[in-house]
Amino acid sequence: MSARVKVTVGVCGGIAAYKAVDLVRLLQDAGLDPHVVMTASAQRFVTPLTFNAISGHPVITSLWSDSAGAASPDQPIEHIAEAQTTNALIVAPATANTIARFAHGLADDFLATLYLATKAPVILAPAMNVNMWEHPATQANLTILRQRGVHIVEPGTGYLACGMTGSGRLADIPTIVATTLQVLGSKESASADLAGQTVLITAGGTREAIDPVRFIGNNSSGRMGYALATAALQRGARVILISAPTALEAPAGCELVPATSAAQMRTAVLAHLPEATILVMAAAVSDFTPRHPEAGKIKRTGPLLLELDPTQDILQEAIAQRQAGTTIIGFAAETDSAALLKNARAKLERKGADAIVANDVSTPGLGFDSENNSGIFLTRDAQIDIPATTKAAMAHRILDETLALKTMQPALTTR
Ligand code: CTP
Repeated sequence: MSARVKVTVGVCGGIAAYKAVDLVRLLQDAGLDPHVVMTASAQRFVTPLTFNAISGHPVITSLWSDSAGAASPDQPIEHIAEAQTTNALIVAPATANTIARFAHGLADDFLATLYLATKAPVILAPAMNVNMWEHPATQANLTILRQRGVHIVEPGTGYLACGMTGSGRLADIPTIVATTLQVLGSKESASADLAGQTVLITAGGTREAIDPVRFIGNNSSGRMGYALATAALQRGARVILISAPTALEAPAGCELVPATSAAQMRTAVLAHLPEATILVMAAAVSDFTPRHPEAGKIKRTGPLLLELDPTQDILQEAIAQRQAGTTIIGFAAETDSAALLKNARAKLERKGADAIVANDVSTPGLGFDSENNSGIFLTRDAQIDIPATTKAAMAHRILDETLALKTMQPALTTR
């Protein structure tokens, strides 16, 4: 299946129209496939070409475009096709005019027609002048829309482009994305293929205390594990995210369990393992920990020799303790590209995981502490290449393969 869930972003004519460019990018980062519809006035603020380039899809700007008229039995009228194929309509910025048009059922341009024709959930992120926002007409229109089940992402308060201060600023883009993910996650849809699964994910790099102010850490940003958590939530799973310290915000809807050291992560994983149907060990767990962490800060008095003990292998222990039906996926971060597959296969055998995602962390711009990643999903019987892509898209590919493994080879997990 294509893991990317199609959504439609409706852009209206307001100063905040430029922020919709970021919205499209962040929706993509969240693993969604945004298509863009612009009103006529939106095109006076941002060009369709910008959204075309960012989204990779043609931008719909009118009910009367060439393709819009090309209806046939295999090619329905464009607004009906868009209405039927989209999973959510997100309007940002939603102007007072469009809110009024939606509330009163006008169908005078593509966006308003799409709103009437779609059965997908609708999310509106209003942005306008404070007086327009507070006007009883706008508020009454919003009440009508709320009663119809439209999700309103409340605007923020602050300095407005019109020079006034007050309510009416477009909500933060991450908030609009989080609302979209929540709405999609709660929607019964064909893409909720992980509904009923509990996915336990570890993320980030653990920290091993040397003294109260110093630790042994690594370059893991946690982005891959967080992307997996977001993707699993989008697909309807219950997600438990065991996270070492990161600079990231946990995706809305996951159960976050903080764990700093390898030992704490081990305790958390083993405690939650009985609930999990899938475990993905995306964390970069420290292989060593100081034997005698100091209670006070170590002074710089001369050379220092640290004695380190190996940590326990959480993945291996989880595999030994798992219940039948729990699929376990490990990661293998390697720096020797030539030996990537050989080393990953050895890890797969040694640890007994159902699959190992092997990635070469020595490639600049990929892997550790970067936005993108690539890898090989390695099982005992197959080797699936995941070419360089965003971590969000890679997360969906990993979940696709995990699910395929779970459905095709249930016996694997009962050995
Ligand atoms: N892992 C683990 N517990 C550890 C170390 C690693 O559960 N103490 C997990 C990681 O989360 C990852 C997999 O094992 O899913 C492989 O981690 P990696 O660091 O690549 O391999 P190691 O087993 O540590 O082997 P090496 O460092 O020798 O390559």
